[in-house]
Amino acid sequence: MKKELIFIVDDDISIRRLLGHWLNKEGYGVLDFENGEECLRMMDKGPAAICLDVMMPGLDGIEVLKRIKKIDNDVPVIMVTSKDSVDTVVEAIRDGAYDYMVKPLDKMRFMTTLRKGLENYGLIAELKRTRRELKDKYIFENIIGKSKGIQRLFEQIDKVLDTDITVLIQGETGTGKELVAKAIHYNGSRRQGPFIDINCGAIPENLQESELFGFEKGAFTGAVRAKRGRIEMAHEGTLFLDEVSEMGMQTQVKFLRFLQERSFERIGGNKKIEVNVRVISATNRILKDAVEEGEFREDLFYRLAVYPIVVPPLRERKDDILILATHFMKKYQNETLKKINTISHEAMEILTNYRWPGNVRELENTIYRAMVSSDSDIIDRSCLPENIREESVTEVDSQEIVQLSDIEKNALVNALKATDCNITRTAKALNIGRNTLYRKIIRYQLNKIFPELTRHIKDP
Ligand SMILES: Nc1ncnc2c1ncn2[C@@H]1O[C@H](COP(=O)(O)OP(=O)(O)OP(=O)(O)O)[C@@H](O)[C@H]1O
Ligand SMILES: [Mg+2]
Repeated sequence: MKKELIFIVDDDISIRRLLGHWLNKEGYGVLDFENGEECLRMMDKGPAAICLDVMMPGLDGIEVLKRIKKIDNDVPVIMVTSKDSVDTVVEAIRDGAYDYMVKPLDKMRFMTTLRKGLENYGLIAELKRTRRELKDKYIFENIIGKSKGIQRLFEQIDKVLDTDITVLIQGETGTGKELVAKAIHYNGSRRQGPFIDINCGAIPENLQESELFGFEKGAFTGAVRAKRGRIEMAHEGTLFLDEVSEMGMQTQVKFLRFLQERSFERIGGNKKIEVNVRVISATNRILKDAVEEGEFREDLFYRLAVYPIVVPPLRERKDDILILATHFMKKYQNETLKKINTISHEAMEILTNYRWPGNVRELENTIYRAMVSSDSDIIDRSCLPENIREESVTEVDSQEIVQLSDIEKNALVNALKATDCNITRTAKALNIGRNTLYRKIIRYQLNKIFPELTRHIKDP
């Protein structure tokens, strides 16, 4: 394996020798420089980390740091400082230094900090690599993920980009439906046009119609001037109907007619207005269920769901959790003024095994809160809220399985008793097939309770 290369920048030769010695012994490659200019000239060697003295003649450490960050924003830079210039270090951290060490240096602490920096660099690199690989095929900047589920989603988005096909996005709350809708619009052929959304869940039914279709002056009391509706605003762009299951019945009728005719009238008007819009809708209910419950028109459902896309819940794409968490840590570093970019192994296990009913939104909030509450440079178990720690189940709870199978076994025993071990009647009573019943008799060794079943096992 190629040695990782570490840069040491310090005007003090004894520090360069000391660090160089430690690093060589740990198997790293080392290049050392007595000033910042030299280091900057060698940046194309691709250092994996840089140890940078704060106080140097010529360019000082802060200035060198800023220039390094312009060349490689991600490389971890560890500032090395004497006791009396610790103040400068705060500035350095704000300018993107990974961490700092105060002289005299302690070998253990130095190596730990360095290793963490390298590990973090690796993660960021992986994140970028994944994005780049996907980007070759698809370009959805804001949607992070590498799981099979997300890749399938990307493929689906890709298919509808350059068409005007009507898309229905379904998925639990917080899975990223709005993100998907925007990805389709901003990467599709209508990206020059407007993206207009209307949240049907947030607008009372009696106002939905005027919001969507607009009205003419005098259409109703209070209509002192004419107003364009969202459909008109979306001309040549995309109309995004969010929480579409909450659209009122009357509005549904009118919207269906609009979809059929691609034209409409404002409320109180009689002029036909023709618009060219692409319609994308989203819902966190299964829209078909709303149809079956009589709350949503079936004909409108089919018009909206020409191309259905399902965004899978986070618990079904656990592969995305680490990469999303890393993304959110980066996102909130500035806001929280904390250089947190690592999650402890234990905390990661909890995050992986939690069910995430609020999906990515809940994960984002959890990471943000954990960063705020952490008083070290990592997110560990104690930074996570109690409910998440408690509800995170490491593996399928074996006790639960025992209980479930106990219930099944009891039901079988009772049914067999009630029918005097008549196979046909027992199967009927339990609403299962005869073959299934045979299998269950074998699995639970029910012949030990009812010896007369033995012949069925030998000769089923
Ligand atoms: N794959 C992802 N990558 C990055 N951020 C994501 C991803 N999925 C969701 N998010 C973020 O999670 C939050 C929720 O996403 P969004 O609003 O799109 O969800 P939604 O499915 O529309 O939820 P709701 O049904 O509650 O409206 C947003 O802040 C969004 O940026
Ligand atoms: Mg939404």
